[in-house]
Amino acid sequence: MAEATGLVHCLSSLINVSTPSPQLPTMTDAADDRGRIHNDNGFHPLVGVHDLHVSTYGGQRSVPVEERGVEVVWDLMFGFVGSFAMRAAVLLGVPEILGREGPGAALSALEIAKRLPCEKPNVAALARILKYLAAKDMFNESGPEEELRYSLNAASRYLVGDEAGKSMAPLALFQVHPDMIDAFKSLNEVVLAKKSCSAFEIAKGKPIFAYAQQHPEFSKTVNNAMASSTKITMETVVKHYKGFKDLNSIVDVGGGLGTALSQIVLAYPHLMAINFDLPHVVADAPTIPGVQHVGGNMFESVPHADAIFVQNVFVDWDEESCIKILQNCHKALPEGGKVIIVEPILEPSGSKGLAERLAMDADLVLLTSTGEGRLRTHKQWKKRLEAAGFRPRVNIVSLPLPNASVIEAYIS
Ligand SMILES: C[S@@+](CC[C@H](N)C(=O)[O-])C[C@H]1O[C@@H](n2cnc3c(N)ncnc32)[C@H](O)[C@@H]1O
Repeated sequence: MAEATGLVHCLSSLINVSTPSPQLPTMTDAADDRGRIHNDNGFHPLVGVHDLHVSTYGGQRSVPVEERGVEVVWDLMFGFVGSFAMRAAVLLGVPEILGREGPGAALSALEIAKRLPCEKPNVAALARILKYLAAKDMFNESGPEEELRYSLNAASRYLVGDEAGKSMAPLALFQVHPDMIDAFKSLNEVVLAKKSCSAFEIAKGKPIFAYAQQHPEFSKTVNNAMASSTKITMETVVKHYKGFKDLNSIVDVGGGLGTALSQIVLAYPHLMAINFDLPHVVADAPTIPGVQHVGGNMFESVPHADAIFVQNVFVDWDEESCIKILQNCHKALPEGGKVIIVEPILEPSGSKGLAERLAMDADLVLLTSTGEGRLRTHKQWKKRLEAAGFRPRVNIVSLPLPNASVIEAYIS
């Protein structure tokens, strides 16, 4: 049995980014005579290597790969830069600083620097980071070159916590946590390993959940990342999926800190709700009115209820483990009971749109962190649910989130 990881969220958070999403170059973007891609927002940031045709994300234009081989290598080579620039901005608190100034506020690098908890910040360095992130559509940039000003846009607003704590910042920090980076450094070793395992296990000596259990700071990072992403996803789930209303009780299996249930019971306060996760995880969970936290192991048994909710847990596990979890859910359900699963569903398609590219990224994140964890297609879901004793008729409720769906199945 493969070891699970908290990466499920990585996957879904990578994919479940609700609109609006950052603007990326498309097939309709125009290229100028130096091959630089530009659109209404100006030149695309990946420009920088003279005399090269700049594509993005490995080339979306119809230029043959033979003509843009060098740029593909540059593009992949610099793939990490954006992640770390965003991390720097989040750690410095730039989105929060801009958010505190009120809607539409635009500050210069100097003004932002003055608000940092540091006596003599390097303003020039901050200006370069901001310029880079604005070019990547992370912030809006305005004003004359000598005094550029930066403001929040649809993307950076997702990095500011609001009163409900809805922010993707914890998730962004988790993806580039030093332990996750260590795992990625061992990706090549996964291929040569004598037995199937994750890069995380090779790098850190333990599968990710077991490691998290012994490293409270990492565990906190994982749990906060999951919770932050879940807040955004669950808002959409509760709005579009009405299958909670006729239930009396519900268990969230692998529910982390109880974030999903907190939103479900807010909409359906009559529900008796149990948040079920590993003991060290529920020990850190906050008190949530109407939600009881229960520690345990989903591979042994899960608490009984009218319905079992499972969000972004199966993506972390191999097929055998997924069936085992589902069998335990089946055992805990009464006649007519159902499982409600929220996960991205893999759409087999040859397209190279944003959702597919993110799915590809997510797949490698799952390989790195969990080893066997991956996305599945509709067909694979039906087969798996049937194997665990659920009815072959599976209801899929599509959500207005790229690749995120609700999968509903009743016990037979
Ligand atoms: C990626 S997280 C998803 C958390 C939550 N469902 C959400 O969407 O925010 C996977 C969760 O599965 C939990 N988990 C892993 N192994 C488990 C086990 N054996 N029994 C119960 N929960 C487990 C982890 O602790 C983690 O909280």
